Amino acid sequence: MCGIVGYVGRELAAPFLLQSLKRLEYRGYDSAGIALIEDGRLLRFRRAGKVKDLEASLDVAAFAARVGIGHTRWATHGAPTDDNAHPHLDCSGRIAVIHNGIIENHAVLRHQLEAEGHVFSSQTDTEVLAHLIESLSEGDLLDAVRRAVAQAQGAFAVAVLSQDDPSRIVVAKRGSPLVVGRGEGAGYVSSDVPALLGKATEVQFLLDDEVGEVRCDGYAVFTLDGRPVHRPPHRVSADPIAIQKGGYKHFMLKEIHEQPRSVGETIREKLDEATHALSLPALEKGFADIDHVYFVACGTAFHAAKVAEYLWEDVLPVPTHAVIASEFRLRNPHITPRTLVIAVSQSGETIDTLMAVRRARARGARVVALVNAEQSAIERESDAVVYTRAGIEIGVAATKTFTAQIAALGLVGLALGRRRNPDSEAVCARELAELALLPGRIVEALRVEARIQSLAEQLHRASDVLFLARGVLFPIALEGALKLKEISYIHAEGYPAGEMKHGPIALIDEGKPVVMLASRDIAYEKLLSNMEEVKARKGLVIAVSDAPDDPNLRRLADEVLPVPAATGISAPILFTIPLQLLAYHVAVSLGTDVDQPRNLAKTVTVE
Ligand code: G6P
Repeated sequence: MCGIVGYVGRELAAPFLLQSLKRLEYRGYDSAGIALIEDGRLLRFRRAGKVKDLEASLDVAAFAARVGIGHTRWATHGAPTDDNAHPHLDCSGRIAVIHNGIIENHAVLRHQLEAEGHVFSSQTDTEVLAHLIESLSEGDLLDAVRRAVAQAQGAFAVAVLSQDDPSRIVVAKRGSPLVVGRGEGAGYVSSDVPALLGKATEVQFLLDDEVGEVRCDGYAVFTLDGRPVHRPPHRVSADPIAIQKGGYKHFMLKEIHEQPRSVGETIREKLDEATHALSLPALEKGFADIDHVYFVACGTAFHAAKVAEYLWEDVLPVPTHAVIASEFRLRNPHITPRTLVIAVSQSGETIDTLMAVRRARARGARVVALVNAEQSAIERESDAVVYTRAGIEIGVAATKTFTAQIAALGLVGLALGRRRNPDSEAVCARELAELALLPGRIVEALRVEARIQSLAEQLHRASDVLFLARGVLFPIALEGALKLKEISYIHAEGYPAGEMKHGPIALIDEGKPVVMLASRDIAYEKLLSNMEEVKARKGLVIAVSDAPDDPNLRRLADEVLPVPAATGISAPILFTIPLQLLAYHVAVSLGTDVDQPRNLAKTVTVE
């Protein structure tokens, strides 16, 4: 969702702001803008569309400003127009505000401010903050921002620039993520660390209801009531290379190909391959007495949780349920102090997942965060954390974090299973031996790409595609369908193959593409029968299978995409690879914006 950047220092601000906004493009947005202080005057430039459109409209080299803020907006209140793009100004045009999140009481505040004579020029909730800060200003910007956010309800990360105070940027946070940083003669603000890679050497993550100021010699953070906050900073260790395409046409393709390493790293951190000992310090706090497990997650992370629901049933003698986080909040889940809730999230910031965590904890559950980004809100609000070690993921459509989530969740299940259920030892031993081979098998699975490329040429004219599978591969069918619809905008549905005859079969007619995941180990014969049913209605069967040479399969399928044979945790990961490549190449054939699909955001921080 929206991206925030800010710079104050010795160098020129405008090039930094535009470059950093491009680094945040992956979050998803529909307009962009910057504000600078140039020769003592606040200047603002905004535009609906991409950062490159904004950049093209500016003579960037002509700006001498050494302080400024920049924003990419993902529209919530008000259409994605030039007028609704951030920064927003107060009546005097001296204060500029950028904001992520939603000010829930914006209508009340707007009404009050209009009654005081403030004139609004956009439909956004953000603009109330600019006028509120103006109205509360008694000379000190930090103080005015503090008092303004104290009146605001909802979630926000805010950066404020004032023409009257050009030596600093003032920031505030509640709900939405915000980082301040320090580098060589510079202070930085960002909604996300990638924007600061190669620039800031250390950063501080603001907590809720903290405000701060960023100057050219660094930053200071305070509580809302003005007390200084001292927390050790975090070194910025990730390499800027991590956020470059490295020769690939898109980040998504690079990330698909990184999976042997990202899954490998995720496993290596937790498993000693020589001794088969599992090292998961997060679980040492004891979860031995749990009698019920809920996974809460959204989007792709939910599909990983759904895979875990199947996998854990093999090793853990307690009920497990994967629940979509936004629904978890509306239900009355069975929660006691012996309930374990696992919050699965790449970003650790997804608001619905965070709210589900809060609800679970309020009812006494113990919560483990399973996240990729460090220092996130979900991690902070959980009892323990397990990381996926997928590295930064830039493509909006999650790929490498999904397979890393399956690997990590699988290992957490094995670790808990070993403690709870001695009978699970045989399953564990087999799993752990297979996992050592998994990165190599992913390399093998990726070799199908050339065939998928030519298949994509055929599929890109489809209006909708069905994905069918059984057992632990059913969530992979859901994920395959989600990937395709997210980046190609082709309608796609994932279904348990056994449900086909209860509805989806009505959709099948001549040439309708049906992707069927056929594993020798998972109700294979039944899946072949489903294939017969599709064939009988002249559907186009694309089989993804670990039995690619089986003559029965070959007779039924119009196309067979092979995956290496494997069981347990490895199988759903390996079956995912061709589906990611299929979605990618269909989208490329259609010429869509693969890394930033329309309307989608990488990190969804509004409900
Ligand atoms: C958004 C992203 C998805 C992601 C989902 C959950 O919808 O576009 O790729 O799966 O959020 O995100 P999380 O960060 O919680 O895994």
